[in-house]
Amino acid sequence: MAEQVKSRMGSKDGVVARDPIAGSAVLPIGSRLNELGHLEVGGCDVVDLVEGHGTPAYIYAEDDLRARARAYREAFARRGVDGEVLFASKAFPATAAYRLFAEEGLSVDVASGGELHIALAAGFDPARICMHGNNKSDEEILMAARAGVGHLVLDSFDEIERCERLLDAPIKVLIRVTPGIKPSTHDYITTGQLDSKFGFGTGDGESAARAIERVLASDELELVGLHAHIGSQIFELEPYRLAIAALGELAGDWCKVVDVGGGLGVAYTAADAPPSIDDYVGVKVDGVREVFGPDVRMLIEPGRSLVGNAGVTAYRIGTVKEIPGIRTYVAVDGGMSDNLRPMLYGSKYETLIADRAAAEPDTLVTVAGMHCESGDVLVRDAMLAAPAVGDVLVTPATGAYGHAMANNYNGVTRPPVIFCAGGEARVVVRRETFDDLTARDV
Ligand SMILES: Cc1ncc(COP(=O)(O)O)c(C=O)c1O
Repeated sequence: MAEQVKSRMGSKDGVVARDPIAGSAVLPIGSRLNELGHLEVGGCDVVDLVEGHGTPAYIYAEDDLRARARAYREAFARRGVDGEVLFASKAFPATAAYRLFAEEGLSVDVASGGELHIALAAGFDPARICMHGNNKSDEEILMAARAGVGHLVLDSFDEIERCERLLDAPIKVLIRVTPGIKPSTHDYITTGQLDSKFGFGTGDGESAARAIERVLASDELELVGLHAHIGSQIFELEPYRLAIAALGELAGDWCKVVDVGGGLGVAYTAADAPPSIDDYVGVKVDGVREVFGPDVRMLIEPGRSLVGNAGVTAYRIGTVKEIPGIRTYVAVDGGMSDNLRPMLYGSKYETLIADRAAAEPDTLVTVAGMHCESGDVLVRDAMLAAPAVGDVLVTPATGAYGHAMANNYNGVTRPPVIFCAGGEARVVVRRETFDDLTARDV
């Protein structure tokens, strides 16, 4: 097989002619085709890796995670802005990821007691933690206050009352505003429109203005700023300007902090062309400067764009079923339990065979999972290079909201998370065992 790939790639002078891996927009930075024609991520041969660790497996290039964290910080530094970059940890809530981003000087956004627990366990300075949630429980509010989180983001009038009842010392808060802006992305991941379960609206009887008045009068809550997150997987930049302008309408002297959320989209397929991190930060910085002036502290909360393209999922092909004249199903040993996004949002992915990553894709297939649902399809109408039972199939760009949304449907054990750097692989989350499946039984 290696010879076959070499002859396909080789040229007269031995220079590699076809390498669809290097420079791919969807694979982790530094991915390459090795001498065996295998996909390499973080310097590790993916085929070798799964020989040792099994499939499915989430494989991340550590350098990619670090490079994107640095790109965010550098984008602020280049503009002379001391902005705070918060890792939106819902995208990839693995302790090792929190630790890595803490090392890179990022802060963190948590949206539940569980995420707060992991952030603290990973060693995040509580002052660098921002606590979200549209329905925080009493326990979560108390946990955040006791930990001493930097900011709590208020989401409803009920929550304001709950905080006042529970807290005995003032806590710094931001008010989450839904500025009535709907960017072009999937409905399930737009969050800034008026018809939203999140935050306070600007047009619904001025609930944001009333919330501000209410919190300014509170002894337990110290209002320091505003927050808006208008959605996720967004490729346009203009909606951010509009959201910042809407926040500006509400601000007063008390507004020292503006958190303008996350949302930058990533490439799931070659057809996707998201703006660069630098352009995205540039638009937000310009907007905040223009509307709020130079003295306000600026926070952003990227999730997907920090981790999405850093990870791939590797599966083993178990069956190839050709239905003449209809389609060929390639079934893998995972599916909607490790990647829910295609079922939730109809998300599109690319796919390739790691064993012969440079071979010409020649077979039209549908990649299905192993779950008891016909909708358990990971990639519809993909071209693969002669897929066969036993091959290692990879879906790139599964670094965000993959591990995060993994589940045990059909009694499937959740995959390990493996970090690769410089050819060294380390398991940072082990594969679940069958005993884990019964561990909570009482
Ligand atoms: C409040 C908040 N901030 C940040 C994010 C991260 O968004 P993204 O992953 O699109 O950057 C989300 C995602 O839903 C969010 O709800």
